[in-house]
Amino acid sequence: MSDPSIVRVALGARSYDVEIGAGLIARAGERVRRLAKRAAVVTDAHVAALHLAPLMQSLAGAGVAADAIVLPPGEAQKSFAGLQDVCGRLIDLGVERTDVIVALGGGVIGDLAGFAAGVLKRGVDFVQIPTTLLAQVDSSVGGKTAIDTPQGKNLVGLFHQPRAVIADLDTLATLPARQMRAGYAEIVKYGLIDDADFFGWCEANGPHVLAHDRAALAHAVRVSVEAKARIVAADEREAGVRALLNLGHTFAHALEASAGYDETLLHGEAVGAGLALAFRFSAQLGLCSTDDARRVSAHLESAGLVSDIRALAGGPYAPSRLIEAMLHDKKAEGGQMTLILAQGIGRAFVQKDAPVAAVRALLDAETAIAA
Ligand code: NAD
Ligand code: GLY
Repeated sequence: MSDPSIVRVALGARSYDVEIGAGLIARAGERVRRLAKRAAVVTDAHVAALHLAPLMQSLAGAGVAADAIVLPPGEAQKSFAGLQDVCGRLIDLGVERTDVIVALGGGVIGDLAGFAAGVLKRGVDFVQIPTTLLAQVDSSVGGKTAIDTPQGKNLVGLFHQPRAVIADLDTLATLPARQMRAGYAEIVKYGLIDDADFFGWCEANGPHVLAHDRAALAHAVRVSVEAKARIVAADEREAGVRALLNLGHTFAHALEASAGYDETLLHGEAVGAGLALAFRFSAQLGLCSTDDARRVSAHLESAGLVSDIRALAGGPYAPSRLIEAMLHDKKAEGGQMTLILAQGIGRAFVQKDAPVAAVRALLDAETAIAA
């Protein structure tokens, strides 16, 4: 077992390390013991069956008294009812402010358990142990926690930074290939934002990442976490540069809203299509070359993601519905659309007051069925 990579998220008193490597769940007990003597692990049934026992063993071995709360898998848990349930169960377990909540799972568990930790007794420390590729490279880092409401995703939430993130690459061995591809879209995103060399690396090494080649996977997760840590450290509460992390996401959230928030269309699959759309729109506006836009779509397709929304699961997608959802995006201001666009690969920027008529024309063209 080689030493893990450690990436620091530099946020003053709220700074923490992200550990990335193999065999880390076996050592997680020692890490948690540095924070508390008691822990409550929140996880879902899929992850519990695969990865909970070694974690509980590690906690016990380190002298941490721990209980586990096992929730049903799925986005539906990120609701007021789900929050009430998990908070009630944490209170029933007697969780105190000096204890630690451990989120073991994908982005759903991280977002829900993190939010519960943020509001329970006005704030309890928590540790993220992300077990999906998407959670390892994105959602476990940066402190965004949230639940969904009937009006949309992640509309009620808190910034509550974890005390530590432990990304055990071994957990990805059990992740279905479809979930790996969805997480890979977020890896590609970091190259497209501000690291053209990393995008080139992805073009050469994407198949190795998706095939679980250990060195390629470790590199992709580390570079992604470094990129996210750098952006979060510069702008924790998304007053500016952090919005770049939403490259492709305004389109993606609209696609997800239209598809319904179930397994039909995974978040990362929507992000893949959203990245392609953001680049095609940038090319349409003359901001970036059509070659760059084609290169982005070609790479996403080669990774098994869908860049043409006519072929995307959860469709057909109606342009008017997509536009309406985009205007309700959290980044929208005064009824105007804010989009992350690009002047080329690795050259993303925030565009306020994006031209809605041009977005509409793009979506009309993108959804038109060839005669
Ligand atoms: P998820 O948490 O639903 O996990 C996907 C599926 O994989 C689930 O069925 C889960 O049980 C299963 N699973 C998890 N780990 C596994 C493993 N190692 N082996 C086998 N199965 C495993 O989905 P996700 O893609 O990880 O997260 C999506 C959520 O993350 C969304 O709610 C999204 O809004 C949120 N998100 C949050 C942020 C943030 O910054 N907070 C960023 C991106 C996404
Ligand atoms: N996933 C976007 C962010 O953390 O800001």
